[in-house]
Amino acid sequence: VTEEEKTEDYLFKIVLVGDSAVGKSNLLARFARDEFYPNSKSTIGVEFQTQKVHIDGKEIKAQIWDTAGQERFRAVTSAYYRGAVGALLVYDISRRQTFDSIGRWLNELQSKNHAHSDMNVVTILVGNKSDLRDAREVSIAEGKSLAEAQGLFFMETSALDSSNVSAAFQTVVKEIY
Ligand code: GTP
Ligand code: MG
Repeated sequence: VTEEEKTEDYLFKIVLVGDSAVGKSNLLARFARDEFYPNSKSTIGVEFQTQKVHIDGKEIKAQIWDTAGQERFRAVTSAYYRGAVGALLVYDISRRQTFDSIGRWLNELQSKNHAHSDMNVVTILVGNKSDLRDAREVSIAEGKSLAEAQGLFFMETSALDSSNVSAAFQTVVKEIY
């Protein structure tokens, strides 16, 4: 068995889910390539990227699926929840509306996934854009309390200043693994 074959044992599918413009694509760009796009285009459908994650000295491959948040892609994107073992459920701390949508995304994620598997999807609730302190509309306490009520992990992140981005992905991978 080669090293390459060994790592194949740990190929985890993780999905990024949440309203349009919360920063899903930039969280992935920051995590995978350490890049940030101030004027990124809205995702069309679904894109994916394979990223190596190191946990306890072991290399794990995460296949991260970045889905479009726009309503018109919903039927398409939800089809990709199938087979996911992990999820980042993302809102924007400076837009309450995106936090209010979380329940809907969670329902969809769980129902689409349970149709094909009995396994729970390891999910972290992510409040992105923590750098926008002056524009905050959702408190840390509110994020924490929703996560606790739903049995999710929780973290605030910033794709812009990098804070907690790796930590959020690592939390999910570590728990699956
Ligand atoms: P869809 O693909 O339409 O679902 O949107 P998305 O969730 O992928 O959002 P995207 O990553 O394209 O980011 C939307 C906008 O928010 C872009 O202008 C980003 O530059 C900006 N943005 C993303 N993350 C952050 C962040 O952490 N802080 C700040 N200040 N802006 C961010
Ligand atoms: Mg996107």
